[in-house]
Amino acid sequence: MKAVVNTTYGSPDVLQLKDVVKPVPADHEILIKVHAVSVNRSDWEGLTGRPLYARMNGLRKPRRQILGSDVAGRVEAAGKDHTDFQPGDEVFGEMESYSGGFAEYVCTRGRDWALKPPDMTFEEAAAIPQAAVIALQGIRDQGQVQSGQSVLINGAGGGAGTFAIQLAKSYGADVTGVDNAGKLDFMRSLGADHVLDYAREDFTRNGRQYDLILDLVADRSAFAYARALKPGGRYYAVGGSVATFLQILVLGPWLRMTRNRNVRVLVVHRNRKDLVYVTELCRTGKLVPVIERSYPLSEVPQALRHLGEGRAKGKLVITVDHANS
Ligand SMILES: NC(=O)c1ccc[n+]([C@@H]2O[C@H](COP(=O)([O-])OP(=O)(O)OC[C@H]3O[C@@H](n4cnc5c(N)ncnc54)[C@H](OP(=O)(O)O)[C@@H]3O)[C@@H](O)[C@H]2O)c1
Repeated sequence: MKAVVNTTYGSPDVLQLKDVVKPVPADHEILIKVHAVSVNRSDWEGLTGRPLYARMNGLRKPRRQILGSDVAGRVEAAGKDHTDFQPGDEVFGEMESYSGGFAEYVCTRGRDWALKPPDMTFEEAAAIPQAAVIALQGIRDQGQVQSGQSVLINGAGGGAGTFAIQLAKSYGADVTGVDNAGKLDFMRSLGADHVLDYAREDFTRNGRQYDLILDLVADRSAFAYARALKPGGRYYAVGGSVATFLQILVLGPWLRMTRNRNVRVLVVHRNRKDLVYVTELCRTGKLVPVIERSYPLSEVPQALRHLGEGRAKGKLVITVDHANS
């Protein structure tokens, strides 16, 4: 089968479309014919090996050499102990190891996966898992956003952010989106009440305070984030620099005790219930998976470059055309 492979960490130039061995499902796995796979920042991080947590897949070179997490496709075969899905089922979900998806076929246990609604395309389904579940757990579960609260989403023009803006608005919050200058109108179009260009304004230094900050690109000090919170407010780092994560883990409890500010790291727990919940919101039009562009499998490097250069608005999706390969 064809797959996009990276044997070293680096730029999109290290990616190669290659013939590799088609995977065989273990007893508890399913084999999926991939129809669409979306691109996440976690793929960019897995490609470049930065931040440091991306090197959990091998310190010097990647052990798993096919990126791609969020897959939608059709079950081709099921191992003898697999009970959730059957051959022919149209399914979607996130790969356990954030890898394998930029390929014609993948094997997964499918534990947190779901049936694709028949009225949803494979592309729409692939755009949902990682990004929308981050947004749901950040805004609804940990953020506990209520009507009238002020919410700031840092990195709001990307994959998870576009879902987070829409969710926070649906709970009645006053939403501020922060991203680069090219995405300000885009964030407004998703419902953001206020937008900030991160190159021109530092939201931790403008004197405003928020009930919730959801940060997809955390790179400041824990003190800076505490300063931007109202008393009792919550800050969650989802993605960003390891130094910031470590500082939050060390200083977070102290900031809670001494300043009544909750500064924490959000650890996303994948699960089928949340995936089905956000998908139903998408299916009924309450949430829109914003897909900026689709690319064929051979253009994974171009898609990753577009995301890495910060130009992607919402989600990018790879469409796998089996007739052509
Ligand atoms: N905590 C967990 O359990 C968990 C689970 C899964 C994934 N994750 C992480 O969650 C993150 C999800 O991100 P995503 O997929 O939404 O990324 P994305 O689509 O790349 O969006 C991030 C956005 O932030 C913008 N940005 C970059 N630097 C910024 C800054 N200093 N201030 C404000 N905005 C900035 C980016 O634009 P520009 O770069 O162009 O300017 C981009 O629009 C990833 O880091 C992923 O690894 C965490």
